[in-house]
Amino acid sequence: MSTLITNIGELVTNDPHAEDLLGALEDAALVVEGRDVAWVGRAADAPAADTVVDVGGRTVLPGFVDSHSHLVFAGDRSAEFAARMAGESYAAGGIRTTVAATRAATDEQLTAHVGRLVEEMLGQGTTTVEIKSGYGLTVRDEARSLAVARQFTEETTFLGAHVVPAETDPQAYVELVTGPMLEAAAPYARWIDAFCERGAFNADQARAVLAAGAALGLRGRLHANQLGPGPGVRLAAELGLTAVDHCTYLDDADVDALRDAGTIATLLPGVEFSTRQPYPDARRLLDAGVRVALASDCNPGSCFTSSLPFCLAMAVREMGMTPAEAVHAATYVGAAALDRHDVGALVPGRRADLQVLDAPSHVHLAYRPGVPLVRGVWVAGRPVVT
Ligand code: NIG
Ligand code: FE
Repeated sequence: MSTLITNIGELVTNDPHAEDLLGALEDAALVVEGRDVAWVGRAADAPAADTVVDVGGRTVLPGFVDSHSHLVFAGDRSAEFAARMAGESYAAGGIRTTVAATRAATDEQLTAHVGRLVEEMLGQGTTTVEIKSGYGLTVRDEARSLAVARQFTEETTFLGAHVVPAETDPQAYVELVTGPMLEAAAPYARWIDAFCERGAFNADQARAVLAAGAALGLRGRLHANQLGPGPGVRLAAELGLTAVDHCTYLDDADVDALRDAGTIATLLPGVEFSTRQPYPDARRLLDAGVRVALASDCNPGSCFTSSLPFCLAMAVREMGMTPAEAVHAATYVGAAALDRHDVGALVPGRRADLQVLDAPSHVHLAYRPGVPLVRGVWVAGRPVVT
């Protein structure tokens, strides 16, 4: 069964062999065969297919790959946000409020809530999402958080090392995370993460957590340099991690280390928006030769947006990225940040995960902030939002 999607005003392919970053084609068409892209090119040259879909000159681009979210939680921290906007500063200790609410929620409540957020993301063009645990912080609650996340994505991350829960001493907690909690979580997780930050876990603890995960086959990633300078980014580079996330406070040695290791810096501007911290300097990283991904970090505390278009607009307005770099960072590089080479581009052989924008080009994503432009979303060759 093949489908020809035609009359595409601008088609963002992210073809790595193209001369421009986005591999953009005008007056284009794309053929979907089963789950995958089979052909892309000029509409005038398109082959015949079983069905034809005319998108009326709109823009088609790969679905967003949101490589960082914390969707498994219960409760509401809007009062904390309001207090911040009135001058309070962000403290990671607020995580414990969500932990209490998450522990009290049933599996059904957690599943329904994640489902709503994933649906919300899909409607804004996100076709792949990574989901972390980290609001359970007991063996039972971390394992069930990941079991819930697994129902929605293969990209699940065990973040038992989010904060030390109020009832435990730090050393005993690291032993729990690297022992029984990891064992219970591992069957549902692809990745392991730690919040390496003052007030959360230090570099030695983060290293121990990632090493224990690696012994069970989990790949490492880190939250680092979010609230201030610290050792996390250099640890990520030293371990050769695929990606390290936040990267708000970096010195020159951090930037050099990321470049030399080829570790992707995943920037999460929604966090700086809603904590009123300075935005990370994407331009500095790109100019130094570091690969930059953009993700939402959707979570109830530091950033409750599910919208990658909103994050793109901030990256362009506040972080020195061009609209093309921002789109690339939320699609192609987002996929690379999850070690995924089957999504994030619309070239033959990759999965036909795509979005149709009611706009003449990708630039409108940043040019028209806050405007819902998505008119269609396809996942694995099938329309899921029309
Ligand atoms: O990515 N950095 C740590 N964790 C989350 C925030 C969690 C919270 O405040 O609930 C983050 O920003
Ligand atoms: Fe996070």
